[in-house]
Amino acid sequence: MKRAKITGIGHYVPEHVVTNADLEKLMDTTDEWIINRTGIKERRHADNKTGASDLGVIASENAMKMAGVKPEDIDLIIFATVSSDYYFPGAAVLIQKKMSMKNIGAFDVRAACSGFVYGLSIADQFIRAGMNENILLIGAEVQTVALKFDTEHRDLSILFGDGAGAVIVQPSNNSSGILSTHLHSQGEHAKSLWMPAPGSHFHPWISHEIIDNELHLPVMNGKEVFKHAIVRFPEVIQEALDTNNLSLEDVALIIPHQANYRISQAVARRMGIGMDKMYSNIHKYGNTTAASIPIAMSEAYAEGRFSEGDYVILAAFGSGFTWASAAIRW
Ligand code: UT7
Repeated sequence: MKRAKITGIGHYVPEHVVTNADLEKLMDTTDEWIINRTGIKERRHADNKTGASDLGVIASENAMKMAGVKPEDIDLIIFATVSSDYYFPGAAVLIQKKMSMKNIGAFDVRAACSGFVYGLSIADQFIRAGMNENILLIGAEVQTVALKFDTEHRDLSILFGDGAGAVIVQPSNNSSGILSTHLHSQGEHAKSLWMPAPGSHFHPWISHEIIDNELHLPVMNGKEVFKHAIVRFPEVIQEALDTNNLSLEDVALIIPHQANYRISQAVARRMGIGMDKMYSNIHKYGNTTAASIPIAMSEAYAEGRFSEGDYVILAAFGSGFTWASAAIRW
């Protein structure tokens, strides 16, 4: 069975930078608090004409350029997001239309912060099974539209940002590529980070009452998410290492979901590694949910943090809870 390989990576973030000082004007918070608790200095906000698929198109163009593939070559689109342009259909079909791709399969993955690694696992299986040869996988979010920028909602509005990353996945012609993926979930924690409405739990699923009670906004138990994240990240990274008989010394770089710099620090401490092995760009973009790993991977590659032959581990944790990892030989 042929391995699958990432042959192109690209990303795109909106131009509008929102600094901690900008947020200080809107809510009771400080630059010092945000940096100390999260490591975030600024994030990007999309303008009011931009949806997740619009960011996804530019990230996809960049990934396709690197892989040397054209829109007509793509034979499957997987779009990881919690902020699809419309409630349905998903954002993947909007990419198919906007990029004039053939009438190929296109679907969304709603595994929140783990969405990109879940999507990569799907792409890996489809390539290995011989079903596809040129898969476009996107992680993109315009989620700041679901935030409120006031003191009551400051726990979430300081944390999240908008952005997009994309990869091209093709069959590998040697032993490099995606070595393994591991996916996990624990639905008993679904309400630790969630956005209840609109949804089929409610009849009708959107109403003035839902809006008055702010059930259409995300809610997070930050401490609960933190507590589980610092256990699940090391666990799923170790699972990737063990499956491939690798040690941490063999790995060039771990690219974790950019949830909070303090989470990455705690994971590094628990695993006995330095932050030099744990990629971080959260200071620039905040938490971009499904987009954070492909944006980080794209920047880490451009910075020369890994190259041909290197082992790289991707690791994610987030709403669900879901968590996942991928081991890659570049
Ligand atoms: O992809 C997964 C997504 N989510 C995460 O990874 C989130 C994980 N959790 C976290 O990152 C952290 O829990 C937060 C950054 C969200 C919060 O940090 P914390 O250290 O857990 O703070 P806290 O919620 O315990 O709040 C401590 C204090 C509270 O005040 P009191 O009750 O001690 O007087 C909060 O009201 O800090 C206050 N606070 C703030 N103060 C200034 C909460 N948010 C802010 C803020 N600015 N933005």
